[in-house]
Amino acid sequence: MKTPIRVAVTGAAGQIGYSLLFRIASGAMFGPDQPVILQLIEAPIEKALKALEGVAMELDDCAFPLLKGIVQTSDASVGFKDANWCLLVGAKPRGPGMERADLLKDNGKIFIEQGRIIDAVAAADARVAVVGNPANTNCMIAASQAKRLPAERFTAMVRLDQNRAQTQLAKKAGADLTTVKSIFIYGNHSPTMFPAFAQATIGGSPATSVITDTAWLQGPFCETVGKRGAAIIAARGLSSAASAANALVDHVRDLMTPGAIHSVAVKSNGLYGFDANVWAGMPVRTTTPGSYEVITGHAMDDFAKSKIAATNKELVEERAFVADMIK
Ligand code: NAD
Ligand code: LMR
Repeated sequence: MKTPIRVAVTGAAGQIGYSLLFRIASGAMFGPDQPVILQLIEAPIEKALKALEGVAMELDDCAFPLLKGIVQTSDASVGFKDANWCLLVGAKPRGPGMERADLLKDNGKIFIEQGRIIDAVAAADARVAVVGNPANTNCMIAASQAKRLPAERFTAMVRLDQNRAQTQLAKKAGADLTTVKSIFIYGNHSPTMFPAFAQATIGGSPATSVITDTAWLQGPFCETVGKRGAAIIAARGLSSAASAANALVDHVRDLMTPGAIHSVAVKSNGLYGFDANVWAGMPVRTTTPGSYEVITGHAMDDFAKSKIAATNKELVEERAFVADMIK
């Protein structure tokens, strides 16, 4: 039998956690023959820790053959110990009317601490995926604390945006979802993100030759994808959870699958005109399990360049906003 992968999950008793943990334990994230040990981390709040006990009981009650252990803790140095994957979900979520920047300071403190502890105690091959918002900048903050783990091990999730964009293109084209390929998200997980429709294909043809309504692609399409999170909050009174958990399963599974091509927010290193020190969504190709290379060379027209400039500006502003924290 394979050695279990240790998966640390913060915010394990939260909404996303409740949709996520059962998928990990069932094999959806790491495959049907890969055992896992779940290391569940919650805030040191009685109600959250009690809820976590209930989640752990339910995981037990599923009798998942691949689940080889559950750790429950509010101590991050216990929860991240020897973790191979650290899924940073726990954070204060955005409520109605709030922008992600409002969350930066509060959540920034959490990611400073977690970045430092992960670097100190996680496994030598540890990978980090950040979901808690504002995800790109929280990822940058966590990575800023790492001395041992290289920056490319820290990724943030823009996969929910890619999945949203794929569905919107399929609906507009009246095509099956699976025929929409190469729709990548550039920039921030926020309304400024850019779903680069000119690179997408539908049924093997350029999306722009199937959907010839350029005004729709540049306007309502980009806007619907960018503001989908707010639309869900307005409808549910709570932020997206099942779709976010599903996107994290996709994010990690594809990062563990050599050859997979998908959108991930990574340290830009100046690619596609982004500031070198922000974490920006980009297309990547997984090379070996857990490692990837950015796919470079996608041509950008003036519209795409202006969208990338806007989302880069926001990322640079977010970074400036927390500059005192990451010194
Ligand atoms: P939630 O409030 O239901 O759960 C968050 C959990 O995190 C809570 O149980 C809380 O106790 C816990 N927590 C808070 N601080 C913690 C800490 N320091 N350590 C460990 N746990 C801690 O929220 P949710 O709906 O599960 O959302 C979680 C985060 O994911 C939010 O920031 C939300 O905005 C974000 N989100 C991101 C995306 C994305 O695409 N990147 C999508 C949806 C939601
Ligand atoms: C989402 O995109 O659904 C989440 O990031 C929640 C939010 O605050 O928009």
